[in-house]
Amino acid sequence: MILSARALLALVPLLRLSNATPATATASNVTTTTRSYNNPILPGWHSDPSCVFVAEGPYNNTAFCTTSTFMAFPGNPLYASRDLTTWKLATHSLNSVAQFPEIRTATNQQFAGMFANTLRHQNGTFYLISAWINTAVELPRFVLFTTTDPYDDAAWSNGLWVDTPTRTIDPDLFFDEDGSAVMASSGNPIIARRLDTSTGQTSEAWALWNGTGAGSTEGPHLYRKDGWYYLLLAEGGTQLGHRATLARSRTLAPNATWEPCPSNPLVSNSGTDSYFQTVGHADLFQDGAGNWWGIALSTRGGPELYKDLIFPMGRETVLYPVSWPAGEWPVAEQVRGTMSGPLPASVGAVSGGVGPVVGEADANHPNALRITASRANLTADAAFNASTEGLSAVFRRQEHSYFNFSVDLHLANGSDRSEGDELGVSNFLNQDQHVDIGIVYLPPQEGNSTSKRAATDLRPYFRVRANSVRYAPVPEPIITPVPSAWLKDEDAVVRLRISPRNESHYEVFASQGDDDNDVEPMSLAVYTMALLSGDGAGTGGLLGVYATTNGGNQTFDAYFGRWRYEPVGQIIDYGVVVPVNGTNAAGLTR
Ligand SMILES: *[C@@H]1O[C@H](CO)[C@@H](O)[C@H](O)[C@H]1NC(C)=O
Ligand SMILES: *[C@@H]1O[C@H](CO)[C@@H](O)[C@H](O)[C@H]1NC(C)=O
Ligand SMILES: *[C@@H]1O[C@H](CO)[C@@H](O)[C@H](O)[C@H]1NC(C)=O
Ligand SMILES: *[C@@H]1O[C@H](CO)[C@@H](O)[C@H](O)[C@H]1NC(C)=O
Ligand SMILES: *[C@@H]1O[C@H](CO)[C@@H](O)[C@H](O)[C@H]1NC(C)=O
Ligand SMILES: *[C@@H]1O[C@H](CO)[C@@H](O)[C@H](O)[C@H]1NC(C)=O
Ligand SMILES: *[C@@H]1O[C@H](CO)[C@@H](O)[C@H](O)[C@H]1NC(C)=O
Ligand SMILES: *[C@@H]1O[C@H](CO)[C@@H](O)[C@H](O)[C@H]1NC(C)=O
Ligand SMILES: *[C@@H]1O[C@H](CO)[C@@H](O)[C@H](O)[C@H]1NC(C)=O
Ligand SMILES: *[C@@H]1O[C@H](CO)[C@@H](O)[C@H](O)[C@H]1NC(C)=O
Ligand SMILES: *[C@@H]1O[C@H](CO)[C@@H](O)[C@H](O)[C@H]1NC(C)=O
Ligand SMILES: *[C@@H]1O[C@H](CO)[C@@H](O)[C@H](O)[C@H]1NC(C)=O
Repeated sequence: MILSARALLALVPLLRLSNATPATATASNVTTTTRSYNNPILPGWHSDPSCVFVAEGPYNNTAFCTTSTFMAFPGNPLYASRDLTTWKLATHSLNSVAQFPEIRTATNQQFAGMFANTLRHQNGTFYLISAWINTAVELPRFVLFTTTDPYDDAAWSNGLWVDTPTRTIDPDLFFDEDGSAVMASSGNPIIARRLDTSTGQTSEAWALWNGTGAGSTEGPHLYRKDGWYYLLLAEGGTQLGHRATLARSRTLAPNATWEPCPSNPLVSNSGTDSYFQTVGHADLFQDGAGNWWGIALSTRGGPELYKDLIFPMGRETVLYPVSWPAGEWPVAEQVRGTMSGPLPASVGAVSGGVGPVVGEADANHPNALRITASRANLTADAAFNASTEGLSAVFRRQEHSYFNFSVDLHLANGSDRSEGDELGVSNFLNQDQHVDIGIVYLPPQEGNSTSKRAATDLRPYFRVRANSVRYAPVPEPIITPVPSAWLKDEDAVVRLRISPRNESHYEVFASQGDDDNDVEPMSLAVYTMALLSGDGAGTGGLLGVYATTNGGNQTFDAYFGRWRYEPVGQIIDYGVVVPVNGTNAAGLTR
């Protein structure tokens, strides 16, 4: 799905001024302090992380990570951090349709679009290689983006098609000691090709390692250390059996022998009841002080909630310390909600980048957001063609177990609306799975609605409608009239709010959008998070606004105001809710 370019005022959160403290500046001069931190370090939908640490040049010991964005646009974010715990959005490597026009056609599947990137830095250039698939092409193709300025959207290259081995995903990019590039990718065995990064041409493929037998060998990353080539893999599938495994070889030659790590897996919480499940799809990097770190994807909630489909944030990014003495195998600490390690002493956000800082509240948006309604609703219909029309919606990630997301909807009276016109907020995983809390213009439902009516007879109704391919039964729509008393003003404003009620259900509220009324908000619906959880969790939950004519060929402009996302609390272990920003978590249930 492509988020509509017709949203005229993009909801890019306001930049926060950096409070970064100038820390030790050079690779040889980094100080660290052992302190604890909480996972996930990139909360909310941040799947398939890949990171690189850049000590040199203007970067001053900064770590950069990318994650999968599948059908979302802009895509392929880079997050930057100097303390490994405060991450700021630096840029999106895919930030204009012209860079990769095919992105328009990623639609309707949670595993369609661009995903499982590898991010590397070599000789002043950042390389981001990605797999691309949509519903029309059967086979994935790899695409490479480069930049010399990771803080500037405009500096990214167009996507370069890379010769792609048949039926493989998860491209790696490894620069050998001679500067040549090797691209490993998924399969059994994992295969590799030499890659010319300037043309996208590759050599014939050769086999690397078959993995440990857990199946679904994917997500490869190669490293060179102490005269060895190390190959890190994801195995066991992205669900509860997920793990990261390792092998090494003296050469990359086709006849090389890959010796499995005797203590595999490097990380996995499979078979445990850890709150952090599905740990795998890992990457490793060494910081400016010489310490090694691992990252991976993980799903919160423990195995029982996973089986109950309660994981609305999908796959999040976690950090764990790694010890890797010269010539020996690395040893990782297993992923937990609170961990401790020799973090760089510098704290706070980097100064560059488009922002915001991951996990912070959305700052005030003083202006209204105008969205021109799309014909198709967020599910779309058989006539929908993503190449020629869009879905009008703007989203942000759900990043917290507990949050308040609220927006003002500006209602026009029925004379300005056609039947079926709808604006609202959506709790969205993908086109197949979402819950829309709309205000829809319909003929009065009571009395005789079969007769043809004048447009002025339309009136606004709250309508909560779910679409879910994974959870049955999908609840019937709830349709409730907007109270007449709320519609007296010419520009009536209704405020909608989505808040988790507990660890497994959301509740949505409506109130008259008037700052100084203290009327209790009306509860519109309570619904299970299972509606929003997907198999393998390619994508994760989003919150946002949309406007549609529900198939009508007319259009209208919908106005939204006072967009607020307020973090409230993070659940990081059974019964452990960490309040965000001093909020009182006492009333939060788990
Ligand atoms: C390295 O750290 C020392 C002690 O903190 C400081 O005096 C020196 O200026 C630093 N050097 C550089 C190049 O930053
Ligand atoms: C890197 O850090 C040094 C020392 O703190 C500072 O002088 C320099 O301006 C920094 N460079 C950038 C690009 O931030
Ligand atoms: C590194 O970049 C510089 C400047 O672009 C170039 O002259 C040099 O050949 C590059 N080195 C390698 C190994 O690619
Ligand atoms: C790896 O798997 C391939 C394909 O299943 C098989 O032909 C090959 O013998 C395996 N190699 C090893 C070392 O097990
Ligand atoms: C592997 O192949 C290379 C040539 O590609 C050869 O020099 C080497 O002896 C071979 N090693 C083994 C163990 O067969
Ligand atoms: C915490 O509150 C401060 C001050 O209101 C705000 O600037 C900051 O963004 C908040 N942090 C989060 C995580 O919401
Ligand atoms: C969206 O439109 C389709 C096709 O008209 C319809 O089947 C579906 O119920 C609508 N609503 C939602 C929430 O998808
Ligand atoms: C969608 O529109 C494009 C551009 O007009 C066209 O090439 C394509 O065939 C259409 N797809 C379908 C399924 O109609
Ligand atoms: C709708 O708004 C128009 C213009 O603001 C006003 O003239 C009209 O009376 C309103 N209609 C109703 C039914 O409230
Ligand atoms: C509803 O309207 C139609 C068309 O005007 C009319 O034929 C029918 O009798 C009406 N039904 C009721 C129950 O009023
Ligand atoms: C919208 O326009 C298309 C193309 O002109 C037409 O096929 C379709 O029937 C129209 N839909 C409605 C609801 O009028
Ligand atoms: C969430 O919204 C409710 C209702 O407006 C409010 O009572 C509560 O304080 C909010 N929580 C936070 C953390 O802002």
